[in-house]
Amino acid sequence: MNRKIKILEDSESLARFAAEEIITRAGEAIAAHGFFSLCLSGGSTPRILHRLLAGDPDLRQRMPWSQTYFFFGDERFVPHNHEDSNYRMACETLFVPAEIPDDHVVAIPTQPQEPAAAAREYERKIRTFFESRGLLRNGIARFDLILLGMGPDGHTASLFPDSEALYKSVPWVTDNWVEKFQTHRITLTFPVLNNAATVMFLVAGQDKATVLKEVLSGQGDPLYPCMRVDPEQGDLIWAIDKAAASAIKAS
Ligand code: 6PG
Repeated sequence: MNRKIKILEDSESLARFAAEEIITRAGEAIAAHGFFSLCLSGGSTPRILHRLLAGDPDLRQRMPWSQTYFFFGDERFVPHNHEDSNYRMACETLFVPAEIPDDHVVAIPTQPQEPAAAAREYERKIRTFFESRGLLRNGIARFDLILLGMGPDGHTASLFPDSEALYKSVPWVTDNWVEKFQTHRITLTFPVLNNAATVMFLVAGQDKATVLKEVLSGQGDPLYPCMRVDPEQGDLIWAIDKAAASAIKAS
């Protein structure tokens, strides 16, 4: 594991740090193979990052938009115009403001398809993209950068504690029934997450502090799914704000 932990003052500086990392990794990827595959996280934390990347004149100018292809680590199983949709959040905060063309975005299909069919279609889209560009490692898609969040229960993407998807290794993408939300999700599985060149967690907020301390100490409950994210041949960055790091600093 090549792990870096970076504690930032607040969510704004966390977003700025993440934006700089994205631009750096994009430059490296484009130099290496001509494009940058960026897998977005869902939830609320990425909103500030998206708005900064699209809205800060300096960052916007330095971001290699035309060589960047956007994917999603997971999706709620709702229509893309639903208020809970990760795709809708990314459109509103990033794709529309940054004028990203549709052919540079690979969205996770949802309704009206069935969850399993939607997962299979997303996997086909990813496979086509990476196989056509010869960017597989051990036969698995190798994303240049995967952004992830962490829930207060230690979930990441839509890999929730005690959910079936935790134990799926074959498909790159799976549907996952989440009991506590009584809903389906579509998510990348651990083999894809751990095949990435870089994984960067963005974690903000006091409500994450206790679990984050356990996760980063390695003493956490192995049932915390995010503890299983460890790129086999890549970098792992934990970008966290002071509030989320408060339990670590207390120790
Ligand atoms: C989702 C995410 C999920 C998220 C965490 C943190 O679809 O909700 O992919 O894994 O990253 O729950 O969410 P917040 O950023 O809202 O705290």
